[in-house]
Amino acid sequence: MNLQIQNLSFRFSSFGSFSEPVLNDINLNIEEGEFLALVGPSGSGKTTLMQHLTGLLKPDAGQIRVDNQDIFAKGFSLTELRKKIGLVFQFPETQLFEDSVYKDVAFGPRNLGLPENEVAVRVEEAIENVRLDFEKFKNRIPFHLSEGEKRRVAIAGVLALQPEFLVLDEPTAGLDYSGVQAVADILKHYHSMGRTVLLISHNIDLVTSLVDRMVVISDGKIRFDGHKKELFQNQKLLQSVGLSIPRTLALVNSLKQKGWVKSSELYSINDIKRELDQGILAKHILAQPQT
Ligand SMILES: Nc1ncnc2c1ncn2[C@@H]1O[C@H](COP(=O)(O)OP(=O)(O)OP(=O)(O)O)[C@@H](O)[C@H]1O
Ligand SMILES: [Mg+2]
Repeated sequence: MNLQIQNLSFRFSSFGSFSEPVLNDINLNIEEGEFLALVGPSGSGKTTLMQHLTGLLKPDAGQIRVDNQDIFAKGFSLTELRKKIGLVFQFPETQLFEDSVYKDVAFGPRNLGLPENEVAVRVEEAIENVRLDFEKFKNRIPFHLSEGEKRRVAIAGVLALQPEFLVLDEPTAGLDYSGVQAVADILKHYHSMGRTVLLISHNIDLVTSLVDRMVVISDGKIRFDGHKKELFQNQKLLQSVGLSIPRTLALVNSLKQKGWVKSSELYSINDIKRELDQGILAKHILAQPQT
């Protein structure tokens, strides 16, 4: 599925008072199989934009086109669209309500009217796709799980719908390091299955370790859409939208000044480690006389 946002503008209607547009002339193309991130300060319009993708909000101007069709055109089925685009809202675990993990993950597929044997296959696959042991977790009470496990079960509920396009709003908010890594792993795996993934996140370290293409939004306008390398070279832009460079890149910059690494394009600790391992570490650190 290809998705295009064309000249989209939107304001929340408020009685009796003039409201500023929350989204202002947004243009964005998302191709099938892409993995990209949307970043921007609080209140910049990220969640509002996400709600437009499946027609939960209707633009005042402009269009959302899916495979070249306007999603609000007569005859276009928003119900079908919502089967193809899975939205994981912020703190999705607050929606868990069943008395077992299995039932919670099965809720969506059952709602699609799928036969019970197909539901069973999807539930098992989705639970495994969020890296939880199916046999161990299927009968657990969601309420009794850890925060990270609850988050994963909630994500599994959306994955069980097998969306072609997965959109997640701050999926790691409030999670500890291992919880963040688990979510990162889930997203990488889902993308590797040929799906399209849009990650909305404040966690710049996470985002840069996962994607190349970054879209920056601030005050309802797209300020940047391109490769992260270009973004992190643009100090002026970063400052104006209040984004910091990832901690890995800050480390790379100081290692580069010392001459210990040559490349600036190292976005994960493993990348840095690999570069340091290539003899440079031996030359610059291990060769120092021991005192
Ligand atoms: N239902 C609503 N009615 C009126 N204004 C709203 C509504 N929802 C959001 N807004 C306003 O729209 C703007 C964009 O909000 P949005 O939630 O899209 O931002 P965001 O980028 O997702 O922020 P955050 O990073 O904090 O989640 C904000 O100024 C917000 O106050
Ligand atoms: Mg938001």
